Amino acid sequence: MRKRHALPALFLVSLIAAATLLSADNGSRGRQANRSAVPPADSIVTPVAGPSWLNHLNLKFSDSSLGRGAGLYGPTPAESGTPTVPTSFVPGQSRVLTGGDLYRLNCQACHRAEGTGSPPEIKSVLSLVQGSSLELVRRQLRGEKKPAQPATIRQQVTQAHNELYRRIREGGQRMPPFAHLQEADIDVLYAYLTELAHNPDSPRQSQRTVSWNRLGEHVVKGTCHICHDAVGARPTEEALLQGAIPSLTVLVAENPQVTFISKVRRGAPVVMGRPSFHYRGRMPVFYYLQDAEIAVDATAPGTKVRWKSLSGVGLVLLLGYGTLNVVSALAVPIALEARAVSGLGDGAVLLGTQPEEYMLGTTYAQLHQKNPKLDKLLVDTMLGMCAQMMAMAAAFLGVAWFAARRGARWAP
Ligand code: HEC
Ligand code: HEC
Repeated sequence: MRKRHALPALFLVSLIAAATLLSADNGSRGRQANRSAVPPADSIVTPVAGPSWLNHLNLKFSDSSLGRGAGLYGPTPAESGTPTVPTSFVPGQSRVLTGGDLYRLNCQACHRAEGTGSPPEIKSVLSLVQGSSLELVRRQLRGEKKPAQPATIRQQVTQAHNELYRRIREGGQRMPPFAHLQEADIDVLYAYLTELAHNPDSPRQSQRTVSWNRLGEHVVKGTCHICHDAVGARPTEEALLQGAIPSLTVLVAENPQVTFISKVRRGAPVVMGRPSFHYRGRMPVFYYLQDAEIAVDATAPGTKVRWKSLSGVGLVLLLGYGTLNVVSALAVPIALEARAVSGLGDGAVLLGTQPEEYMLGTTYAQLHQKNPKLDKLLVDTMLGMCAQMMAMAAAFLGVAWFAARRGARWAP
């Protein structure tokens, strides 16, 4: 009976430990962020989620220029050849991104390589960037012969600078917010933008070293998520013809790396409609992305379970807690019913025979004989509880496991 005695205590200990470890891990992330201005890139990577930016805006692909800054489309079915072998790269390696790279991955799909966008829908980035240059604004005012206080000019320039940073962080009406860009990323990006806009007082260009996963985050959130939902089933060939766009999970699950890279960098025809035919793809050709930058998308960031971390231990305990629930939801009824079958167990439910009989004021054997109704009620109540425990177990195991596999933010 010792073992069953220990069950409830074990439950509690594992639950508390799991909760503590999970929160301890988050806490240490928070502390890290405080200690240095720039936390290691890996700790901030979050998986892409939710509908595409087009679907978020309720825009049809054909009615918008969003994501089409490449301005280039794939071959017609007649022109297309076999996919070419990608250039070699080392998956998992960290990389150095310049401001130009950050622009390419996060902005170019809409604003074009030149920063000019596609007005009127997509405004040029250049005027705001130029407005944030003290030297340019001064020259302009001098040219227009508009006298202004130096303090006023400085204030105006600072305002433009802040507005630019705010715009990148929060987005606009049709521009998505870039929550995944850190202040330091925006600084590097800003230096590049000032060069793009030919500001005479451009700050020094700098770089960011990023992990493989972080690189994927830039590409997927900065480019692919404009058109592709994060998750979803494959649309039918008829739906594709009507304009449906497959989700990122479908792309990654169903395309071998070579076809994947080829589709993105060089374009490939699509099979659509019923009866189905080959059509020229509608997706722009992202000729300016490197093979490695496309391949990285095939491994969605954050989906790997890190068992050897504190929260990995937390996950094991949560899964253990669910399993314990299953075991006890089975063990208790067996023990209870076994009492009727003499020779197996002694019918103790949770605490052991002695304390339970003490609380009942009688022995189980006597209760069974003298008050069969109460006896039955007790047994049925316990059975009901076990059923609930089983449901809890299913929920615990399901939620913990699938959230971890899906790379939910709180999962390891
Ligand atoms: C999905 C398309 C899209 C992407 C990606 C995008 N933008 Fe925009 N951007 C827009 C649109 C559309 C506008 C016009 C205003 C609006 O609708 O929000 C805009 C406006 C701007 C403006 C304001 C121009 C003005 O004068 O008001 C700036 C600056 C800008 N974007 C910078 C950026 C930078 C920097 C990036 C990369 C980090 C970026 N954008 C990525 C779509 C995009
Ligand atoms: C401007 C919208 C747009 C953007 C941005 C975009 N795609 Fe697509 N993508 C499409 C459309 C539309 C299709 C459907 C096939 C077609 O018509 O070309 C598609 C299809 C695909 C396919 C083939 C899917 C299949 O299995 O049939 C792959 C692979 C793909 N996209 C990868 C990407 C990646 C990776 C990115 C980011 C670098 C990206 N796409 C960005 C619009 C876009």
